[in-house]
Amino acid sequence: MTTPRIAPSILASNFVKLAEECHAVLDAGADWLHVDVMDGHYVPNLTIGLPVVKALRKEFPDTTLDVHLMIENPDPFVEAYVEAGADIVSFHPEVSHHPHRAIQQIKNAGARAALAINPGTPLTALDWLLEDLDMVLIMSVNPGFGGQSFIPSTLPKLRELRELLRAKDLEDRVLVEVDGGVTPDNIADIHAAGANVFVAGSAIFKSGDYRATISGMRDRLGQ
Ligand code: DX5
Ligand code: ZN
Repeated sequence: MTTPRIAPSILASNFVKLAEECHAVLDAGADWLHVDVMDGHYVPNLTIGLPVVKALRKEFPDTTLDVHLMIENPDPFVEAYVEAGADIVSFHPEVSHHPHRAIQQIKNAGARAALAINPGTPLTALDWLLEDLDMVLIMSVNPGFGGQSFIPSTLPKLRELRELLRAKDLEDRVLVEVDGGVTPDNIADIHAAGANVFVAGSAIFKSGDYRATISGMRDRLGQ
């Protein structure tokens, strides 16, 4: 199976020291940076956008920037996020008018495309799109805030998605990311259920020791 990756969500970092915080988690062994873009409409929270992605790209030219768009009608913005420096762009299919087109736009602009699936959204939202994706982001909390608890029904959903990818022979092509409430205590079960990219905000940034937390996660992933 694909090598597991750990993607700290910068939402839980100290924004006043954003660059320092990102350097610290990368030095501590993180693989990617997960960037949560929220618009105050699709989700009841407002965070950061294009200028911050651009600034991160400049400061971290070689780091994979995993940009998670929690915005209404993402279609007109996806290319701009790739141009700003996103390596991966995820969006929520419920609020996209033309998800198939948006996926192609992300890929044509040179990034990897992902759909984000909410806890209440069935995997059928991936029908006719899965083959075109580079990653599926399974939300294990309702989008909008860091620091929420992992929703247990995510595990059977992950197993179902893993089966689907296996049946379609897409396991080598499509990554499975889990986002929300991931901790050193539940990461092994999430991995066993079929995820290979692990977003963790609070569990890393609110821990006193980023290196110890990330190593603890890697131990539990058998890395
Ligand atoms: C939730 C965001 C997550 C969040 C994860 O809407 O998409 O990326 O920051 O934070 P934790 O790990 O604290 O649940
Ligand atoms: Zn996210």
